[in-house]
Amino acid sequence: MESQSTLRTAVIIVAAGSGERLGQGIPKAAATLGSEPMLGHALRGVLAAQIAAQICVVLPRGDTELRALVASLQEGNDVQLMTVDGGSTRADSVRNALEVLSETDAVLVHDAARALAPTEVFHRVLNALESGAKAVIPVIPVVDTIKVASSSERPDIAPEQVRSTPIRESLRAVQTPQGFELATLRKAHDASAMFTDAQAAAITDDAMLVESQGIPVYLVRGSELSLKITTPNDLLFAEALLEGPAAPRWVEG
Ligand code: CTP
Ligand code: MG
Repeated sequence: MESQSTLRTAVIIVAAGSGERLGQGIPKAAATLGSEPMLGHALRGVLAAQIAAQICVVLPRGDTELRALVASLQEGNDVQLMTVDGGSTRADSVRNALEVLSETDAVLVHDAARALAPTEVFHRVLNALESGAKAVIPVIPVVDTIKVASSSERPDIAPEQVRSTPIRESLRAVQTPQGFELATLRKAHDASAMFTDAQAAAITDDAMLVESQGIPVYLVRGSELSLKITTPNDLLFAEALLEGPAAPRWVEG
């Protein structure tokens, strides 16, 4: 399923996190999903989408195992695969990759932790960029009612109380790959160099940085298969998906 894109596109896969919440004592991208490290699924998923002229994988500093995995997937592939060391936050890791990318029109930033993202999601993101968006993110509806919490007036009862309840219809859960005009993402990351530590710690995705530049961020449909594998339960669920809906990997059911 080849995307007939006219945009020269790079993909950044961020895989430098430590996987604290997964609790295996190894970087999350190295954790086994099915029969291979999570990064193998994520990288083969990007290759299967056939959208990238170059792919930069951001890896934990000092890692050798994941570097070898990337090198093994380079064999027989025309796409240029690169690796760089990660930083202490996700945004730092993205910035390290932005420094080494050559000039492309578009860049997609993808979490290795969303290892089962289907090909169609990559294509929906890229199609929106081709239509003129400078920023586009895949989303799914929120199923839970979400409350904004604040400190409690009565800590003897409970530490927090409800501040407000956003209307669920207007809420979206955000996934990756997030797509950007390369110059737009570079500019947004450059601007964030002035952030205080607290502001930097609050940045959880690239779209937030672009939003703060006043640039419209468009929404396309994500996928239930693009779950972010974070906890041991998520890993169990992803294993089950690999046995079922994601068995023909990267294709939406
Ligand atoms: N990531 C990264 N560099 C960091 C932090 C995160 O490249 N300094 C990547 C992770 O590898 C992951 C994605 O960003 O693919 C989303 O991060 P998250 O799910 O939080 O992964 P971890 O940081 O590894 O997990 P945890 O927060 O539980 O330690
Ligand atoms: Mg993290």
